Amino acid sequence: MRIVLFTGKGGVGKTTTASATALRLADRGVKTLLLSTDSAHSLGDALDTPLGNDPVEVVDGLWAAQIDTQRRFEAAWHEVQRFLLDLLSRGGVDPITAEELTVLPGVEEVLALLAVRDFAVAGNWDVLVVDCAPTAETLRLLALPEALGWYLQKVFPAHRRLAKGMRPIATMMGRGDVIPPDSLFDALLRLSDDLASVRELLADPAVTSVRLVLTPESVVAAEARRTFTALALYGYGVDLVIANRVFPPGRDAFRSGWVNAQRVQLAQLRESFAGLPVRELPYGDAEPVGVEALRGVADSLYGVAPGADPAAVPEAVELMSVDTDGDEYVLRMWLPLASRSAVDAARAGDDLVLTVAGHRRVLTLPSMLRRCEVVGGELADRQLRVRFRPDPNLWRSR
Ligand SMILES: Nc1ncnc2c1ncn2[C@@H]1O[C@H](COP(=O)(O)OP(=O)(O)O)[C@@H](O)[C@H]1O
Ligand SMILES: [Mg+2]
Repeated sequence: MRIVLFTGKGGVGKTTTASATALRLADRGVKTLLLSTDSAHSLGDALDTPLGNDPVEVVDGLWAAQIDTQRRFEAAWHEVQRFLLDLLSRGGVDPITAEELTVLPGVEEVLALLAVRDFAVAGNWDVLVVDCAPTAETLRLLALPEALGWYLQKVFPAHRRLAKGMRPIATMMGRGDVIPPDSLFDALLRLSDDLASVRELLADPAVTSVRLVLTPESVVAAEARRTFTALALYGYGVDLVIANRVFPPGRDAFRSGWVNAQRVQLAQLRESFAGLPVRELPYGDAEPVGVEALRGVADSLYGVAPGADPAAVPEAVELMSVDTDGDEYVLRMWLPLASRSAVDAARAGDDLVLTVAGHRRVLTLPSMLRRCEVVGGELADRQLRVRFRPDPNLWRSR
């Protein structure tokens, strides 16, 4: 079972390349489901076939659906969200948690990913190809399970106990409404479990690969770099960069201007994404709409059919490791493209809070590192290294 996610800025070609990839897989005899979680659905347009919420077979071996879960659970989710914000406004919540909670994404995106998980678990397909929402939303969404998980472990049990203890008193005083009902705690726990299971699937490089689609223009490339860093921070495996709309050579000033500018961008991209394949997709003379045109796109991306397996598990890239160095431990995290100034690492209780270019990840440390103090950190060779030294006081107290 494999999941291949396509992400990138709006309009760069996510839907086109996701569709072409799914089509190539199906043509190779792999049972494939192509899903769109982008609320701006255009899979149906790219494939030139009407699509809905339930998968339909488009060509032999290729099913497609546009996930539209907006209406299904909206009310329930809003209840949970209101409750969370309510809790925050009552104060007493750690600022980190408060901030994480304010970036809760829209309900559609969460539910769309839950639907992806359900299709994966159902096991009816060999590969799921997912046309994701544009970068920013997808990222926030991918970070959610961990952010919430942290809240649920550290703060939530106390709140629940408190609510339980307070409810009879509040009810007696006629203010039972200020205490959240126990069913909300259950709903929140269920939601958190769901999200954790989504993350487990998506952050397993043996299951999921993320493909970054961009166009060779400085603004787009800059955003793709930020996305890439954030994906690495959260532990998602990017296995391919697709540079779309590459101008073929031409003689007029307009064309050669673009060709030269793109050549510079492509060289920079190859340098900054070193270690990752960067594939170019030429700017076609028409929109690649419909199965035949998309097969042409697949030929450009993956070689003339049947070509190589477009869903092959990439060579293992170790995203994080802990080694010993003398009497110290070194936690290493692969953080390509991050600049030193954009990285901050701080201990918060048993956790390590990493902030990279505005994205925050709360890492629950392995027990041996919890009994250590952070004695240094550096970013070099695209690696973040945080040094830990056993703290004798901490060892004694446990
Ligand atoms: N290489 C290409 N050559 C010509 N047109 C393209 C190419 N890639 C994408 N398009 C067209 O550009 C538009 C946006 O592409 P799309 O795949 O829908 O982007 P996204 O899903 O990232 O918003 C579509 O009309 C698509 O047909
Ligand atoms: Mg799209």
